[in-house]
Amino acid sequence: MGRAHVKLDANERIAIGGQPYRVAEHPALPGIPYIQRGGRGFVVQLIRPDGERLALKYFKLKYRVPELVTVAAALERYADIPGLRAARRTVFTRTTHTALLDQYPALEYGMLMPWLPGVTWYDLVTTKTPISPRESVRLAQAASAIMAGLEARAVAHCDIAGGNVMVERRAAHIELVDIEEMYGADLPRPVEAPAGQDGYQHRTSREGGQWRPDGDRFGGAVLLAEMLGWNDGRIRANSADEHFFAASELQDPDSGRYQLMRDVLSGAFGPPLGELFEAAWRSATLADCPALAAWREALSTIPVDDQPETSASHPRPASPVVSGRRAVGPAAPLPSPEAAGSGPEVATARLEGKRLCRNCGEVNDSRESFCRRCGFYIGIGARRPASVTVPAAPGAAAPPQPQSQPQKAPPPQAVPLNRNLDEVITARRLAGPQGTLQRVETRPPAEPPVQANIGAWLVVGLIALVVLVVLILAISG
Ligand SMILES: Nc1ncnc2c1ncn2[C@@H]1O[C@H](COP(=O)(O)OP(=O)(O)OP(=O)(O)O)[C@@H](O)[C@H]1O
Ligand SMILES: [Mg+2]
Repeated sequence: MGRAHVKLDANERIAIGGQPYRVAEHPALPGIPYIQRGGRGFVVQLIRPDGERLALKYFKLKYRVPELVTVAAALERYADIPGLRAARRTVFTRTTHTALLDQYPALEYGMLMPWLPGVTWYDLVTTKTPISPRESVRLAQAASAIMAGLEARAVAHCDIAGGNVMVERRAAHIELVDIEEMYGADLPRPVEAPAGQDGYQHRTSREGGQWRPDGDRFGGAVLLAEMLGWNDGRIRANSADEHFFAASELQDPDSGRYQLMRDVLSGAFGPPLGELFEAAWRSATLADCPALAAWREALSTIPVDDQPETSASHPRPASPVVSGRRAVGPAAPLPSPEAAGSGPEVATARLEGKRLCRNCGEVNDSRESFCRRCGFYIGIGARRPASVTVPAAPGAAAPPQPQSQPQKAPPPQAVPLNRNLDEVITARRLAGPQGTLQRVETRPPAEPPVQANIGAWLVVGLIALVVLVVLILAISG
């Protein structure tokens, strides 16, 4: 067994600390182990005999450091903070888990933690899954409460991005994952200071990193804006890709996406939300971004009742679910589902007949195929299925451009059974049972495919002909 990877099969038994576990099978692909790949490591779902599911995370060599033990001990103190269930973890070392590491050396400084149900926010964004206005508010309220709770304790996640935020949609419950590089007075400095991810990165973080107490302020503002805006069809339709904003347009005050988002937030939820987002967007430093407590406070004034979502597959209820509680301060009540998509006229008018570049956010004429600023292909048909036009919501202004239909996730595709994790280098997300989304490891081709073409066959034919003629001449001679 190599030190780089662990070779695990679906349903393989694995004993950790004397307790037996089974490697879970991928819910959509029988025979495939359920493994998620991140930038720094792998997360495997394990099942205990009593049915409890756990996450086994192990790291690539570079990130397999003894400090992970110190981090886990410090995180234990934060495990009761809402949103940090993943902090309850056991780290494997040569002294504590000798037999396990003899069998699987790559698990050194790996860990076992609770499996957090749901999907990542990244999953919902990449699949352009529609949500209701109520869900938008409840998710943003939950996320702001978690991040403001950390802020109040002078700790920060430091890598707020869609892939690190687990969302349980029905309960509007949020948990943070990837918490090994959190900032805290008692937490050791990570191997590499987290610098923020594409679509969520403050202009100062690329150089200076964001391992600091206010490290969540910008990424948090973008995440909350995405959550609040996601019920609006124009926000989903104009999303850059894996995150709403393209990396290169972040903090550009002229960005069309920024203006659309700011206007959607102000129009649907009241000017204070739009202003909070604007302040974060225009901030020179992380410290200049509004505190996460300010977001929590502004969001707490938007009334929603505690009724469960009517149906995940029909995210917009027939009538808006708004409690009788009066909104405190200037926040507007929830926009009705019918009204969603009819609010911010300014940004909408500006986007009429236009298409936003997925790469840089430039506003292009919708007839163009390539972005006039960066040359990126922006024509339709590159990545999206063709069936995307929907009629305008009743009472809404004519849609400025095709809007995304509530899209079904692509059906599961045949993936070769991969028993060699050394070769797993990409991950795709496929639909699982009940419309859930799962990331599926796939094996890339070992070499670029060689395509036979007519020219190649002609050359082969010519060579064969010449050889034949030479042979005939030789024999006749
Ligand atoms: N405790 C958990 N329960 C359920 N899923 C999890 C858990 N921890 C991680 N995941 C899943 O695994 C993926 C990768 O995990 P994680 O972000 O911790 O890895 P990483 O390599 O540190 O990531 P990054 O690329 O952000 O550095 C997450 O996006 C999430 O889908
Ligand atoms: Mg991650």
